[in-house]
Amino acid sequence: MIKGFIFDLDGVITDTAELHFDAWKKLSDEMDWEFDRELNERLRGISRMDSIHVIMDHNGVSLDEPTVVELATKKNDIYVESLDKMTPDDYLPGARELLTHLRSEGFSVALGSASKNAHKVLKQLNAVHFFDVIGDGNSVSKSKPAPDIFLYASKKLGLRPENCIVFEDAEKGIDAAKAGKFHSVGIGPEQRVGHADIRFETMKEATLFEVKSHFKDLF
Ligand code: BG6
Ligand code: MG
Repeated sequence: MIKGFIFDLDGVITDTAELHFDAWKKLSDEMDWEFDRELNERLRGISRMDSIHVIMDHNGVSLDEPTVVELATKKNDIYVESLDKMTPDDYLPGARELLTHLRSEGFSVALGSASKNAHKVLKQLNAVHFFDVIGDGNSVSKSKPAPDIFLYASKKLGLRPENCIVFEDAEKGIDAAKAGKFHSVGIGPEQRVGHADIRFETMKEATLFEVKSHFKDLF
């Protein structure tokens, strides 16, 4: 029986990929590092520190850890400032409707995000009230593809993984859901989230009716 839903944030509830791109691009330009949209795609779902290491590896750069932390902080300052412009108009189409529907049907709802800025993003969207539990980048130490953030969220909801559906837009996020034995819904293209139990191109198609009809035996 499905009793709970766990949502990734970036790319599922709102699209922050472009803001992350701009911030990493600014830092990379300053450092004379190559950074493009293809590389930005590889950062989907992974933590800030894992991200900077992906960028540095791509550029054949190695620095001492305190410097890496300092640079990641610099990127974060740029990103956080850009979040000030986010408003409740910035939900991905369909996301607010689904969250509203789930609450009205009495399902438990949690956030399972790698972001340490999840609270700020939810506040900007006026979305905090949708969630019984907020799991973010500060809640666990092992980030996706490890299942820890989703296990943290389900445990806090008082539910077992088999009673929860995870919504994810990242390849590593679906890997994490599967590693934790959660049911999974992928949002995005086949090549990215085709390994999810079911997949929708966008959140707009991911209505409760559609989800229920795909997981028939579980409702
Ligand atoms: C994820 C994003 O949700 O959060 C990643 O998909 C990002 O791209 C990660 O690196 C960490 O975000 P933050 O806000 O803690 O830097
Ligand atoms: Mg995501």
